[in-house]
Amino acid sequence: MACRICSGRLHPFADFGRQPVSDAFVLPGDTGEEFFFDLAVGVCESCAMVQLLQEVPRERMFHEGYPYLSSGSAVMREHFRSLAGRLLATELAGPDPFVVELGCNDGTMLATIAAAGVRHLGVEPSGGVADLAEARGVRVRKDFFEAATAASILAFDGPADVVYAANTLCHIPYLDSIMKGVATLLRPGGVFVFEDPYLGDILERASFDQIYDEHFYLFSATSVRELARRHGFDLVDVERLPVHGGEVRYTLARRGARTPSPAVAELLAAEEAGALTGPQTLRDFAGRVAGIRDSLVDLLTGLRARGATVYGYGATAKSATVLNYCRIGPGLVSHICDTTPAKQGRLTPGSHIPVRGPEAFAAPYPDYALLFAWNHAEEIMAKETAFRDAGGTWILYVPDVHLV
Ligand code: SAM
Ligand code: TMP
Ligand code: ZN
Repeated sequence: MACRICSGRLHPFADFGRQPVSDAFVLPGDTGEEFFFDLAVGVCESCAMVQLLQEVPRERMFHEGYPYLSSGSAVMREHFRSLAGRLLATELAGPDPFVVELGCNDGTMLATIAAAGVRHLGVEPSGGVADLAEARGVRVRKDFFEAATAASILAFDGPADVVYAANTLCHIPYLDSIMKGVATLLRPGGVFVFEDPYLGDILERASFDQIYDEHFYLFSATSVRELARRHGFDLVDVERLPVHGGEVRYTLARRGARTPSPAVAELLAAEEAGALTGPQTLRDFAGRVAGIRDSLVDLLTGLRARGATVYGYGATAKSATVLNYCRIGPGLVSHICDTTPAKQGRLTPGSHIPVRGPEAFAAPYPDYALLFAWNHAEEIMAKETAFRDAGGTWILYVPDVHLV
C-alpha cells in the first residue's frame, strides 16, 4: 500500500473492520442498500502522514442529503464567529479583500464575513447545506474544490487573500489537486489556513472514533509541513484548538513569503520528542482502543442484564466507528437523540439504532446516556442538568470508559 501524499510505504496500525458511510443515516425500509468498506489506518514511513487504507467515493459521502450542520453547536458558532472576526481584522483588512472557504457547509463562518460586506465564496459540494448557506446571504459555488475549480474561481473572481477550510481538508484524499488549486488561487502574499483533528490529541486520548470514512487523514505538524513543502509552501503557524476533541489550525504561505512563528518549531520538536508516529506509540494506541471496546461492551451488556435503560446522545459521524466496531445495536442502546433534522426518523448506518429529536431526551429520563458527542460535553452537560438531577448517569468512552 502506498501513501496518497508521497507514494511511500504505509504501515497499518489499527483496523476497525467493515464500516458503513458514517453520515448515511438510513430510512427503516432501506437497510438492505447500505454501502460498506474496510476501515483501517496506517502511517507513511516517509512523510509520517496517517491515512485510511481504503477510500470511499466522494459522491457517496457528500451529496444533496449530507446531514451534518456546522451550526449544530453553540460553541462552534462562537468559534467560527471569532475566527471570522480575526480574519477580518488581519488578513482581510487590506483594500477589496477576497476569502474562499472550502467546505463552508451551512455558512456558519462565512455569514460573519458576508455581514461585513467582504468579498467571499464558499465552495460546497453538498447541495442541501449549501442552500442553507445561500439563505443566510453567503455566496456559494456548489462544487468539489480541486485544481480545476480553483482555476475557474481565479478567472472569475481574481486571486484570494485567504483560503480557509475547517474540518474539510482532512476529508479529501486527493490533496495533490487541492494544493495545486490553492497555489493557483492564492495571492502571492496570501495564506492557506485550515483546522482539523490533531493526531497528537487522538493518540493521547485514544479517541479512535475520530477515524471514519470522512476523516481520510489525521494530520500532524510533521506531516503537514511535508505536504506543504512538496507544493512550494511553508508551514508558518500552528495553533492548538480545544474544539472537536483537540485540533490544530495550520497556516501555510508561499515558500519564503513569511517568517514561521516559534510555535511551529515547538510543535515539531514535541512531536519528535514524543515519537508521535513511532511504532510503540501506535501499538499502545491500538491496545487502548481494544480495551475501550471491551469495557464499553461489558458495561452495556451488564446494564441490559440489570434492566437499565440506555439512550445515546448525539448521532455523530464518529459514533459509526464505535457502534460498528463494538457491534452495538438497538438491543444495547435503544435510540439516540440528536438535534439534526436530516438524521431524525432514520437509523444509524450499519448499527440501525433509531435517531430521535432532542424532545425524546426528557423526563422520564433513561438511567444512562451514552455521550457520542463527547467533544461537545461541556455544552451538552450544561444544558441537560435535569438529566443528572433526575438520577441519570452519563457514560463516556474517551479517554477511557467512565461514568459521570
Ligand atoms: N467547515 C464546516 C465545519 O467545520 O463545521 C463543515 C465541515 S463538514 C465535516 C465537511 C464539509 O466539507 C462538508 O460540508 C462537505 O460537503 C465538504 N467537502 C467535502 N469535500 C469537499 C471538497 N472537495 N471541496 C469543498 N468542500 C468539500
Ligand atoms: P460533531 O461531533 O461531528 O460536531 O457532531 C455532533 C452531533 O451531535 C450532531 O449530529 C449534532 C448533535 N448535537 C446534539 O444533538 N445536541 C447538542 O447539543 C450538540 C452540541 C450536538
Ligand atoms: Zn507519505
